[in-house]
This record gives sequence, structure tokens and C-alpha cells, in this order.
Amino acid sequence: MRFGFAFGGHLAKGKPICVLTNRTASSNITKIMKPHRSYFLSALAAAALCSGFCFPGGVAPAAEKKLVVGFSQIGAESAWRTAETESIRSEAGRRGIELKFSDAQQKQENQIKALRAFIAQKVDAIILAPVVETGWEPVLREVKRAKIPVVLVDRGVTVSDESLYATLIASDFVQEGRFAAQWLAKKLKGKGNIVELQGTPGAAPAIDRKKGFEAVLVKHPGLKIIKSQSGDFTRAKGKEVMEAFLKTEGKNIQAVYAHNDDMALGAIQAIEEAGFKPGTNIVVVSIDGVKGAFEAMVAGKLNCSVECNPLLGPAAFDAVESIRNGKPMLKRTIVRDQIFDQSNAKELIASRKY
Ligand code: AHR
Repeated sequence: MRFGFAFGGHLAKGKPICVLTNRTASSNITKIMKPHRSYFLSALAAAALCSGFCFPGGVAPAAEKKLVVGFSQIGAESAWRTAETESIRSEAGRRGIELKFSDAQQKQENQIKALRAFIAQKVDAIILAPVVETGWEPVLREVKRAKIPVVLVDRGVTVSDESLYATLIASDFVQEGRFAAQWLAKKLKGKGNIVELQGTPGAAPAIDRKKGFEAVLVKHPGLKIIKSQSGDFTRAKGKEVMEAFLKTEGKNIQAVYAHNDDMALGAIQAIEEAGFKPGTNIVVVSIDGVKGAFEAMVAGKLNCSVECNPLLGPAAFDAVESIRNGKPMLKRTIVRDQIFDQSNAKELIASRKY
């Protein structure tokens, strides 16, 4: 079935924002473990803020044909990505929604093809996790012409016309970068050489996590990024780039800042193979909070992982269904994240869901 969707209008104006703090970025989450920030809202309150409160005309829609949603995923470059895919797949199943899944193998051109295929298949909505920020405008215009609403998950896009998508559900990557830098500055007492493993060039989390990290570093002149290169968010590339850093800088390196856990885990391997102790000789800080990172923190090899919650399925389909029911839609929902380190990893590891 298809449903009416008005692009633009109030959706693009004023960019209303909602904040979710929870374990699965959805209203069905009840437990918040050790919240570290006082500005966390409860998942329930956030869900109430994010959705409208009634059906148009006050009447619930009658029984309808199965919803068909296309999901264009970036790939499977990290444990985080696999968890996100699983969250979206399982939530579609739980709600009886038919999901057309497309894995782009890290290529924007494949995502563009997938979007065009979804138009041809006349899906009811599209969920898009865009690999990079730019280059979406032409295809999103085609999607808009076909009157198919787009829910962006995880990463944002840069477009001149924000009515090209209905809503974005994502973490605040700049804030994640800031958290990582603040934690590191404290640990290194404001002094030390850092090597940086960046994410995929042009990807929102790579751009924003760098920006947030550097904004804090400005206040700590004793902390310097001496090398910075992309490890493409993968463990293999993270290891490879770290090996090169160690060859040229060796004992000059006091810390690694990795834009995700997979690259940090690759770097940890490289550090060990070079004869150093990760977590002790070289401090390692990263972002995501996946199970492997918790294991590495418990083992003393990773020092800190800033959370980035991938369990976006419930919130994504809440958005799809809200749009379908004509409810008002906020332009952006921010998923709030926590900070984990060796002081709480052991206690929390068993409760991790990804
Ligand atoms: O966009 C989220 C990032 O993409 C995650 O940090 C990373 O692991 C993934 O590949």
C-alpha cells in the first residue's frame, strides 16, 4: 500500500529536534543503565515528544495491506553496522512489515541504484543510511517525485532542500568526538602525542567526530595529533594504518583516537605486534561501545569507548508509521550516548545488546 505524504511545509521549517536516550533508541526501552549525563530524557518522554498524539481526524486507520519498506544499508564494515542491520530487520519482522534490503558494499553509487530500484518497486517508504554526506540531491528528488518518504538513519546528508527527507534519527557525532577528547585529555593530563584513525572519507561520523575532538584539543595545547589517516571504519584497515604509524612514530605515540571500535581493535593488534602494551604504553580511545570493545576494556587493552547506539530499528519504524498515519514529524531525533571505560566495563558487559 501507499500512503499520503506532504513533503516540505512544517517539516523543513524550524527543524524541530527530539532527544532519545535509551538502549534501543525507541519507545519500547525501559532501562537506562548508569546514565552519565543529567540531560538524558526518559525513553518514554522522548517518544511522546517525538510522535504526534492523535490520528488525523481522531480515527485510527483501518486494517491495511502489508507495508513495504526499502532499506538501503551502507554495508557490513563493522560490528556496529551489523547490529544496526539486525535491529532494522528484526523490527520489520516484529511489525509485519515487508523489508526490501539492499547492501551497498560501502559504495554510494550502489545506494543510488538501490533507491531507484525502490522507486520502481513502488515501496511505501525508504530507510536510508547514507555512506557519505553529499551527492544525494538528484536521487532524493526522484524519490520525492515518486512521493515516497525517506527516513534517514545513523548518518545525515547535506542537501539544499531539507524537504527531500522526512526525518533523521542519529547520534550526535560531534558530541561523541568531544566526549572522546575530554576523556583523553583527563587521562593524559593534557599532554601527549595522538594518532587518529578516521572513518570513511566524506561520512558524517568521520567529519563530525574529528570536528568534536579537535574542538576540545584547542583547549589543551599540550595534546597534539601527530598523524591522521582514514581506516575506513574497518578492523583490517585500522590495523594496517596503525602499523604504518608505529613504523614512523613508534615510542612517540602516547594515544590512539579511533573513530570507531573496529579500527581501535585493529590498532590494538598492531600495537601488540609491535611489542607495545595497548591500554598501558599507548592509551586507546574509540567510539561505538560494541561488545568487542567491552571485552578489550575488560582485558585492559582499550581504555575508553564512547557509545553510539546502533539499535535504531524501533525508532525508524515508529517514524515510518507516524508518517503513514499523517502524524507531525520532527526533523531530527538525537540518540544520546554514554561513555564507557575500564572503570565500568566489567560491570556492564553482560548487559550489552550489541
Ligand atoms: O555511522 C556510524 C558509524 O559507522 C559507526 O561508528 C561505525 O562503526 C560504522 O561503520
